[in-house]
Amino acid sequence: MPTPDHNLSNMAVEAKQLLYDAIIEYQGQAVGTIASLDCDGMAATNYHDCFIRDFVSAAMVFLIEGDTEIVRNFLCLLVELHDRRKTDIGHSRVSGVMPASFRVRDDGKGNIHLHADYGDMAIGRVTPVDSMLWWLILLGLYCRVTGDTTLASGPGFQICIRAILDQCLRERLEDLPTLLVPDGSFMVDRRLGVYGHPLEIQVLLYAALETGSQLLHPEEAQLPLIKLAEKRRRALCSYLRMFYWLDLPRLNEIHRFDTEEFGADSRNMLNICPQSIPDWLVDWLPDQAGFFVANLGPARMDFRFFAGGNLYAILYGIAHETQTTAILDLYEARWDSLIGAMPVKLSYPALVKQEWTLLTGCDAKNIPWSYHNGGNWPALLQSFVGAALLGGRSDLAERAFALASHKLAREQWPEYYDGRQGRLVGRRANRKQLWSVSSWLVAYHLLQDPGLATLLAPAPLVQSQKNP
Ligand code: GLC
Repeated sequence: MPTPDHNLSNMAVEAKQLLYDAIIEYQGQAVGTIASLDCDGMAATNYHDCFIRDFVSAAMVFLIEGDTEIVRNFLCLLVELHDRRKTDIGHSRVSGVMPASFRVRDDGKGNIHLHADYGDMAIGRVTPVDSMLWWLILLGLYCRVTGDTTLASGPGFQICIRAILDQCLRERLEDLPTLLVPDGSFMVDRRLGVYGHPLEIQVLLYAALETGSQLLHPEEAQLPLIKLAEKRRRALCSYLRMFYWLDLPRLNEIHRFDTEEFGADSRNMLNICPQSIPDWLVDWLPDQAGFFVANLGPARMDFRFFAGGNLYAILYGIAHETQTTAILDLYEARWDSLIGAMPVKLSYPALVKQEWTLLTGCDAKNIPWSYHNGGNWPALLQSFVGAALLGGRSDLAERAFALASHKLAREQWPEYYDGRQGRLVGRRANRKQLWSVSSWLVAYHLLQDPGLATLLAPAPLVQSQKNP
């Protein structure tokens, strides 16, 4: 039920209460937050879990408010889970893979069990590639905010950091700086044609490589791995800036691409066919704006706009200054499509008709303009606000925040919104979704103290084009 008048400080009190109500305890310690406090029975059972990606924004609130213990416990618990996994399923070596979520279960006989889902329980059995990257990014954030240098130095942590870097940097069957992943391996955890080299994973990989190479002890045996991580990070950054970037001059180039070029000098090395440029894009892309495309691979450029990848690219310093400005200009020029009535549109445009059939496998939750397929997600608000502040566009940050504040509490913090402009509460959205709550709280703090934006972003914003 909508509640009357919610001014900002009331909202902050309510949001904080929800956050604390959602805390999960294990062995007497706070270790995470559940995904949703919705009690009307609509929620899937795993919304009682603590999701690694969801907890990141809750962790930011805890860090900002000085309640750092829960973040530390969460990071330690994942080290423990990582350690258990190799024995659980008989791996002979540590894998780096972190679960999508975990839960603490009471079996009714006084025994408390910790259970982690590595995608083996999730709908569609999707692999949570982003979890290990988020864990590392959050570890870096924890170290930076608290100044605690001892945690990451512990042997368990060093093993995990090394295992994650090993996992991401191991020899593969292809020779691109990007990481090849299956469909649904990140926030979009269902089929949506995001297999291959989705932007979001690449951007998180960049930040994780940076954090990992900084936190791994620079002792003799580890130096090759650290150097490799640095080399890959730089290559990845240049590759994203150059080949994922799309603005009108680049679209013109692609429009006139020759195809089927052999050899080292080809301009169109991935053999992108100009005919694959979608109709909607040509008139939609403003003269003075740009963005990173959703995915890139052999003969495949996915021209959709995904907010997560673009916003994190600004926060983590992958987007250089001109690109940052261009992305924020795109938001301003296409506000109705990308923000609409509720920040922030997750992907634009929606897959419709045959594309929806083929790329989602007729997923009824991902129908056009709903959920991951063109739905609007309050969980992305904090990244939008952070990116806009870092890019010098506090006007956009405030505008988006005002929109969200107008509705979120009244509508009980929905998980997502439906419709081209996100005007409807998502048909199957949970209420009291925790990352909608914590994302709003982070945005609230950022706007009160914009200096926090640089602290929470793992890399400095302004970096030269030549030297990422
Ligand atoms: C949905 C989302 C996923 C999120 C989870 C918990 O599965 O797709 O990104 O982590 O809900 O909120």
